[in-house]
Order: sequence, then C-alpha cells, then structure tokens
Amino acid sequence: MASLSHKDLLGIEQLSIEDINLILDTAEALREVAARPVKKVPTLRGKTVVNLFFEPSTRTRSSFELAEKRLSADILNFASTTSSVSKGETLLDTAHNLESMAPDIIVIRHQSAGAPHLLGRECRSSIVNAGDGMHEHPTQALLDALTVRTVKGRLDGLKIAIIGDISHSRVARSDTLLFHKMGAEVWVCGPPTLIPWDFDRLGARITGCMDEAIDGADVIMMLRLQHERQNEAFIPSTREYYNFYGLTRERMRRAKKDTIVMHPGPLNRGVEIDSDVADADYSVILNQVANGVATRMAVLYLLSGYAGLKVKKTSR
Ligand code: CP
Repeated sequence: MASLSHKDLLGIEQLSIEDINLILDTAEALREVAARPVKKVPTLRGKTVVNLFFEPSTRTRSSFELAEKRLSADILNFASTTSSVSKGETLLDTAHNLESMAPDIIVIRHQSAGAPHLLGRECRSSIVNAGDGMHEHPTQALLDALTVRTVKGRLDGLKIAIIGDISHSRVARSDTLLFHKMGAEVWVCGPPTLIPWDFDRLGARITGCMDEAIDGADVIMMLRLQHERQNEAFIPSTREYYNFYGLTRERMRRAKKDTIVMHPGPLNRGVEIDSDVADADYSVILNQVANGVATRMAVLYLLSGYAGLKVKKTSR
C-alpha cells in the first residue's frame, strides 16, 4: 500500500529520501490525468478536504483545489476574511469547529510559522502545510523537485542556485532542505542583509556574488523580495537590488547552455527577473505551476492511505 509514514505533511524536514521519492513517483503517475478528456479519477471519492487559507494565494490555492477536484474529493473552501476569524475566533477554535464536520484532510496556509504543526497535534484530520510564515512550503519544494527531475532526469549532483530574498522565503528553506537531502549542491545568494547567517546549517553554500552562484549552475531559482514580510529597509533601493541580483539576459549568457530558470511566483518583473528571461525557452516557471497540481494530488492521495494506484518506483 502506497502511503506516507506520517499523518501530516508539515515540512520537508520530516520527510525521508524514500518519502520524497514516493511523492515524486506518485506525482509522475498522476500527471497524465491532466491530459485526459475527463480530468478526474475516483481516488478520493467520499473524502472531504478543507482548504483553510489565512494568506493570499494564486498558485497554491488553485492547484490544491484542482488536485482535490481531479481526485473526486468533496471540498470546503474557507476564506478567513469572510469567516468568524474577523470576530476574534482563534485558529484552534476555527479548526476544532471545522473538524467537528468530519473532514479527512485540512490544507492550511497561515502567516504564523508553526500554525500547521499546532493543528497537526490538535486535530484528528491529516494536516497539509501550504505555507507557514517564513518557515516552510513543502509542496512547493516537492513540485520544484518534480520539475527539476523531469527536465534533468535526476537531482543528485546538480548545482542549484537559489537567488534573492532568502531570509523571508519559506520556499528557500524548503527547497534547500529538499535539494540538499536529495544530493544536490545548493547555493544561496543575495544581499547579506537578506541571508540568515546560519543558513549553511540547512546544507547550503552562501555567496553574495551572483556570478559565483550562476557559474556552472544547472538550475537558477529566483525569488522575489517579500515586502509584506519586511518591516525595515534591507536594501538601499529596488534599482540597486536589480543591478546586483536581477536575472537579466546578459547574466544568462554567462550561464551554462542547458541551465533552466525557475521561480515559485509571483514574479516581480524588472526587479528580480527580466521579462525576456522569465518568458524564455529555458524558463520552466509555468511547468512548475503545472506540476503543482500533480504534486498536490500525490500528497493528498498518499495521506489518504488509498491503495488503488499503481506507482512505478524509482531508485533516483
Ligand atoms: N508559489 C506560491 O506559493 O504562490 P502563491 O502564493 O500564489 O500560492
């Protein structure tokens, strides 16, 4: 029976290499559902999934909803702005009230690091972390890994450069943990004010020089400046930031011929990435979004403990 060895998916930190390979192999098997005339399988029929989003989202929220619909789950979309949270109800009371309606899985995005972990301890349902503060975004890292593995055929031995606002990025943390765990050489790059001094403890090499990060990189992952999480000035100006850390066509000329460019979105065109780079053939940004649906289908399926899908296992 294909299933994860955990009740919840809270972060990459908790996943073994076997867990990660199982999720990626399952996502690969489920990817073809999107190419069918009827994009639906009965895998989660009779299961209920609550999408509990306390922060804005385009990609994560839409792809979880599509993943749930393609797996035939019943869905409850919870919008915090129109809920009783605005009347002062706590996260735990909200979760306990929703749980009394018997959902099987709760997908949560929250501005506070650790919010999904709290629900994981308190709730009977499986909890999926869809992004918690500046902590982790595990399904983003998994879809990023699926995208790299699809294009490059492997993760181990690749040089992966993650460039931008590392400090405020949950994607940077989850990606670094995952890619390092899977044997890639991870470099993080950005202004010293936007890189935590102890980030090397996650397995990354740190540089302030973009040319050093890009040199020989198989994958360049650009991140946006997260102004919504910055309450002080970390850079002199966005123009200066662009000059030092913007990914331009000129900089891409110095990259390897088969380097791919990634970005979790949303893009700030002309700040961390130029439009002609974001839209170039070597950009796989929209492939990441497409892989998000299959990856989230895989996570939901594996957490539900369903045993009806044949997954071709890989040793990668
Ligand atoms: N990558 C990502 O989490 O995008 P959204 O904030 O739009 O979900």
